[in-house]
Amino acid sequence: MMSVNFAVIPAAGLGTRFLPATKAMPKEMLTLVDKPLIQYVVEEAYEAGIDTVVLVTHAAKPSLENHFDRQFELETELELKNKLTLLGLARNTLPQGMKLVSVRQGKALGLGHAVACAAPVVQDNSFAVLLPDVICYHRQRNATAQLVADFAHHQVSSIALQAVEPSAVTKYGIAGLNHNSEITQLIEKPNIEQAPSNLAVLGRYLFTPSIFAELAQTQRGVGGEIQLTDAMHALLNKETMRGVVFDGEVHDCGDKLGYLAATLTFAKRHPELGEAFSQLISSMNKY
Ligand code: G1P
Repeated sequence: MMSVNFAVIPAAGLGTRFLPATKAMPKEMLTLVDKPLIQYVVEEAYEAGIDTVVLVTHAAKPSLENHFDRQFELETELELKNKLTLLGLARNTLPQGMKLVSVRQGKALGLGHAVACAAPVVQDNSFAVLLPDVICYHRQRNATAQLVADFAHHQVSSIALQAVEPSAVTKYGIAGLNHNSEITQLIEKPNIEQAPSNLAVLGRYLFTPSIFAELAQTQRGVGGEIQLTDAMHALLNKETMRGVVFDGEVHDCGDKLGYLAATLTFAKRHPELGEAFSQLISSMNKY
């Protein structure tokens, strides 16, 4: 049986939804409490049993690779001062045993194009895709782990979905699903009348390598970009794809309000800061 060892993380985008914060800093380096978004998704992949991350990045974003590299001066300094907890935090940004490969997406030609940039590394393997501006939380099994579990049973591509307000379907890829949890239809950012359901593609995918052949043939779609959803739609004619409805929290951290909501939620849950933060918030509510 095939297992899933690769996770592709598309991180070459310009982050225009979050200006001015993202003018000189990648949006994936925005922090939720004390960790950048990119580290949350790398950890999600690791917890799902994946051992190789393929970061699809851009020349303007070297801090993403640096974050997962060693920082010799900082580590030496912390070691000399015997600050071992801090040393651990600085050193273990990449989980132990995890490998990180980065490839470049020189031109912003869309999410489908970004995933295709990982093909020379992933080759003939099934792989997960995690969009790093979407941060998911589940107490037991994270979204990628749920897709990996579904793949272990069915050996076909699976896509994480979550119901959204009908008025929000225009912001997402929307899927139709039959009673066997097989995807029947996929449309990128449909208008309300076109939408087959209100089940949105939330930004976690697991693909068989056949998606690469479809991506190679995908023409520019919505927004003039090579859309992953269009390649998935084409693959549907050839292979079964399953939808996994995710029952955890989903935060769109590429959006200012979504990011603030995530910050609040993660801060309240933080093992060291949670209690003090909750008190702070309730004291602020008095005014
Ligand atoms: C992308 C995908 C879309 C998906 C969304 C999830 O859109 O194209 O299908 O629903 O991510 O966040 P974007 O948000 O990049 O416009």
